Amino acid sequence: MTGPLDSSPEGLREDLRLVGEKLAQALTVLPEAPVARTAGARRAARRLGGPLPERGAPLRGLVAELIDQLAPPGINTSSGGYLGFIPGGGLPDAALADLIAGVLNRFTGIALAAPGLVAAEVQVLRWLCAELGLPADGSGGLLTSGGSLATLTALAAARERHLGEDIAAGALFVADQTHHSARKAARLLGLPARAVVAVAQDAALRMRPDALRAAVADARARGQRPFCLISTAGSTATGAVDPLRDLADVCQDEGLWHHVDGACFALTARGRAALDGLSRADSITLDPHKGLFLPYGTGALVVRDRAALRAAFAEPSSYLPTPADAEDLWDFADMGPELSRPARGLRLWLPLRRRGAGAFRAALDEKLDLAALAWERLSAVPGLQLGPPPALSLFTFTAGDEPRTRRVLSRVNARGRVFLTGATVPGPAGPTFVGRVCVLHLRTTAAHIDALEADLRAALAEEAPDVRPAEP
Ligand SMILES: Cc1ncc(COP(=O)(O)O)c(C=O)c1O
Repeated sequence: MTGPLDSSPEGLREDLRLVGEKLAQALTVLPEAPVARTAGARRAARRLGGPLPERGAPLRGLVAELIDQLAPPGINTSSGGYLGFIPGGGLPDAALADLIAGVLNRFTGIALAAPGLVAAEVQVLRWLCAELGLPADGSGGLLTSGGSLATLTALAAARERHLGEDIAAGALFVADQTHHSARKAARLLGLPARAVVAVAQDAALRMRPDALRAAVADARARGQRPFCLISTAGSTATGAVDPLRDLADVCQDEGLWHHVDGACFALTARGRAALDGLSRADSITLDPHKGLFLPYGTGALVVRDRAALRAAFAEPSSYLPTPADAEDLWDFADMGPELSRPARGLRLWLPLRRRGAGAFRAALDEKLDLAALAWERLSAVPGLQLGPPPALSLFTFTAGDEPRTRRVLSRVNARGRVFLTGATVPGPAGPTFVGRVCVLHLRTTAAHIDALEADLRAALAEEAPDVRPAEP
């Protein structure tokens, strides 16, 4: 007999039918719905003000409340018009994998508890290692809840290997455009503020290898112990790619652990060319919940030497079995901060097995093409000043000074067809506010690039009546 909290098999089948029906409706509507919707957020939050209910309520109403009322306000990250921040996707295949993982509820912290599902996750990590050019022998990794946690995990491994317990004198090298999750990781790991050294960048906002070399020498002269560089395979603000090969040379000469952040485009030939030198990294963060179109909740760390993860994280316990580290079965609890963890690997395993890597490569290639197309189209728009063509799938623009650029962004976003965000970045004349176009959403198509161009032209025309909008 099923208890009051549990679902019977028949009840689960009914529930899935109900949820499936509602999600199918949502998937019909959401991709076409406005990309930003601020109305309704307060109302939705107010509805939630009541005390913890003592009695339950029917699923149908709760699912409707979630999907129809609570989810819609805000940025519609299910729309292909979402070109702000770093878009992702929300592959339903991965949501199905979550459902399977949750209902089966197998424990993947230690291999013994679910060897088949752990093997599936190991397989995913081995695929990623191979794609990024890491050696089959000894490499490995960990799936985390996101890129920030992947970088934190890598930095812990680098710290352990190079500094041991003596962390106060450590020196970690980043750049102004390195994602702020690197500095956050340094704080979380107890590195003092002086340990984080900013390396100078060139005019295109790429880290300068000569400046890294000089910064390492300066740090040594100050009595610090340089141990790690975090470089960027596509910065969040402008999309600039650091010169990974030259930076790898410096790391090799100076004995630094080289971590590279954000490398999903390495699954394509063009991405690999843009990220030349990536395969020499000690560790790499990928963000599958952006660059591989998964729903939020998956980051990936791959490392050249998985023993470095065990050295940083393995802790003996009086009640767990002796750790395993067979070639195909890893104890993830000994390779990262979590003990209990879901069968996270299925989120990648199922979509990759079902669709094939070729479909992912084609989708990434399509995003590279669409970003290039967008740059070309916007470069012909009077009143816009574009940054360099996209190294991968992100570029920047200004529409005059900061207030004007901000107004143009707001006007474009108010039209609801595409959504853009901006960033303040170093420029020749000081900090400069730029608009950004980031093409990485699963559902972005050429029609969204048409809408982007038309809405930018219209926004500029409202700004300066002499700039006429595009012919319909
Ligand atoms: C380059 C880069 N690194 C790290 C992160 C942080 O990743 P997450 O949001 O998955 O924690 C981001 C987020 O956009 C990013 O763009």
